[in-house]
Amino acid sequence: MKIAVASDHAGHELKMGILRYLSERGILYEDFGCGPEEKVDYVDFGEKAVQSVCFGKNDRSILVCGTGLGMTIVANKFKGIRATLCLDEYSAEMSRSHNDSNCLTLGGRVLPLDETLNTVRIWLDTEYEGGRHQDRLQKIFDLEERNFKP
Ligand code: RB5
Repeated sequence: MKIAVASDHAGHELKMGILRYLSERGILYEDFGCGPEEKVDYVDFGEKAVQSVCFGKNDRSILVCGTGLGMTIVANKFKGIRATLCLDEYSAEMSRSHNDSNCLTLGGRVLPLDETLNTVRIWLDTEYEGGRHQDRLQKIFDLEERNFKP
């Protein structure tokens, strides 16, 4: 599994902690920025990371901004992306087992690093259950195909 990671300035510190954690576990990642000194728009960095998943260059993505909200909105604009803001461990588990989340979004201004690493661990390690949940995901795929036309 290879993870596309991105943040804006408000998520940079938390992102660096997540990158260290991924390295320690030997999980491959691609960091799409931003760098430490930049003040940037989360949209630009979220877009690059998520596009790499859409193009099959990475398997999943982890995006961090101040609240996680902006990155969630951006990521969910992309077809096939199921971005989930997980502020707790239960959400992380459910986002994988029920929603097959392929994009974890986090808030650097609202989450402490140690708790967040546990959230990341659960999100990385929890398998999608399929079954009845697949019928629901299929409805989401159908929505995407209709392109939001009523
Ligand atoms: C940046 O100030 C902040 O707006 C951004 O990181 C994010 O929280 C947006 O949703």
